[in-house]
Amino acid sequence: MSDKLWSKSIMLADLIVTTRTVRRFQEEHKVTPETLLELVDLARLGGSARNGQPLRYQIITEDSLRSALFPLLGWAGYIPDWKGPVSGERPSAYIVCLLERKWLKGPEYEAHFDLGIASQNLLLGAASLGIFGCRIGSFSEKIYDILSLSPSSKVLLVLALGYPAEKVELEEVGEDGDVRYWRDKEQVHHVPKRRLVDILVSAESKARE
Ligand SMILES: Cc1cc2nc3c(=O)[nH]c(=O)nc-3n(C[C@H](O)[C@H](O)[C@H](O)COP(=O)(O)O)c2cc1C
Repeated sequence: MSDKLWSKSIMLADLIVTTRTVRRFQEEHKVTPETLLELVDLARLGGSARNGQPLRYQIITEDSLRSALFPLLGWAGYIPDWKGPVSGERPSAYIVCLLERKWLKGPEYEAHFDLGIASQNLLLGAASLGIFGCRIGSFSEKIYDILSLSPSSKVLLVLALGYPAEKVELEEVGEDGDVRYWRDKEQVHHVPKRRLVDILVSAESKARE
């Protein structure tokens, strides 16, 4: 990021860097219902294709529902020998992001753009309060058996949330191009990000041909 942007918008830049995926939590440190509502309120304000606003949110904090939901979620595919957070380190809350097909005004895929914006609003707001989360797109279809949803609702994403119990560090993707996140001996979670220079595409090459 340019020096100018960093200095003008230091708080936002910091927040974006800080807003990392976290998968181990202080399960007993609960996020209050008021805060969860405030976070959904931030999601609500995101841009929406045709302003259709087809997303809905189900907040889950109740112990029995959390326990039923947990085994249906896929955790950290790049760390195959880790089966997800153990009891005591599990999310204290979930927000299930739903597509309400009844109100979808355009093609279904457009809701995924809305979903990215909404979930990032929510996670940025959460991080500003010291609450972190994990988007979980890998879940079992059995999720429909445990959530009381209308037949027109489709589960798009589950946000696992809580106060963090792990450290996450960003690093540069190395020469080998490996983007897989990994954990070191101290259990610090490392997330490789591509370098700025590697994601910029030259605008001149075509013109020169
Ligand atoms: C659409 C989407 C779906 C994801 N699904 C999962 C998932 O099912 N399980 C999981 O552990 N992480 C999931 N993640 C988290 C990514 O693994 C994580 O964003 C990535 O490792 C980069 O880390 P960062 O969010 O800290 O930048 C998902 C992220 C996105 C954006």
